[in-house]
Amino acid sequence: MSLPKAELHLHIEGTLEPELAFELAARNGVTLPYADTDELREAYRFEDLQSFLNLYYELMAVLRTERDFEDLANAYLARAAAQGVRHAEIFFDPQAHTGRGLEIGTVVEGLWRALGNSEANHGVSTRLILCFLRDESAESALATLDAAKPYLDRITGVGLDSAEVGHPPAKFREVYEAAAALGLRRVAHAGEEGPPEYITEALDVLGVERVDHGLRCVEDPALVERLVRDRVPLTLCPLSNVRLRTVDTLADHPLPAMLDAGLMCTVNSDDPAYFGGYADDNFDAVRATLGLTDERLRELARNSFLASFLEDDEELRARYLAEVDAYDFQSTP
Ligand code: HPA
Ligand code: ZN
Repeated sequence: MSLPKAELHLHIEGTLEPELAFELAARNGVTLPYADTDELREAYRFEDLQSFLNLYYELMAVLRTERDFEDLANAYLARAAAQGVRHAEIFFDPQAHTGRGLEIGTVVEGLWRALGNSEANHGVSTRLILCFLRDESAESALATLDAAKPYLDRITGVGLDSAEVGHPPAKFREVYEAAAALGLRRVAHAGEEGPPEYITEALDVLGVERVDHGLRCVEDPALVERLVRDRVPLTLCPLSNVRLRTVDTLADHPLPAMLDAGLMCTVNSDDPAYFGGYADDNFDAVRATLGLTDERLRELARNSFLASFLEDDEELRARYLAEVDAYDFQSTP
């Protein structure tokens, strides 16, 4: 299904496929503790968010140069384009790289070599969102924002990711205030493994405009009512939720009930190399398993563009929305 869509929850480091990991390891003289891609894929059985994050950070050791980040982003953009993605707002985790000795400029410039040419090369418009690691200190987040200042023309917003429980949003009040003062948009992961209170805190204390995941809002009817009333977009990631055992099976995913409740849901791929699929794979899975109608799928695609940070190019957003409205489910497999 090549329904036109925006990808709003995508960690670029989570698009590192095993084949590219080995290719970059060879290029950079890095030894991975896996014999081959098959053995590496064996490690993709996760118990929870932390067990995934351990592997996610381990494999980043192969990313060393601007060219590595460029290749990583181009590989993602090519796959995304083939899956109907017209616009991608891409997360990156600078601290996961500066913490092992890279300069933030290597990461941003490398990614930009791909993103800056993405409309021409892939037909995908892009935005870049810098994420702070919530299991690092607030001081480290502030230092990261400071280090990013020379690159702010390439960065649209800030986000918050990594191990959620025990690291509530309020820990990052100061850096989010500083980001807002710099004119950056604000999002944060909340309510993936953490409680609904973290969603409320992300809205009230950090001033986020979208909530990444936000799945656990369903446990708090008053919060659902607020999110519906204020049209707060949620960037859901169904295949990620299954792999990280946030839901038991895809059939148990609350997406249909969330849509019925009037929540502004979007469907995204999170870390597609690790969780079994890119944008369309997630759309196909929810269509097949949750029985979403064509009009529900169209609503999800419309939401993705409405929730995207395209305020600086409303003409482009309008063009994308017109494409969604014109999409014919009957004539496309
Ligand atoms: N959750 C939190 N942090 C992350 C994730 C995620 O799914 N992927 C990469 N960092
Ligand atoms: Zn995520």
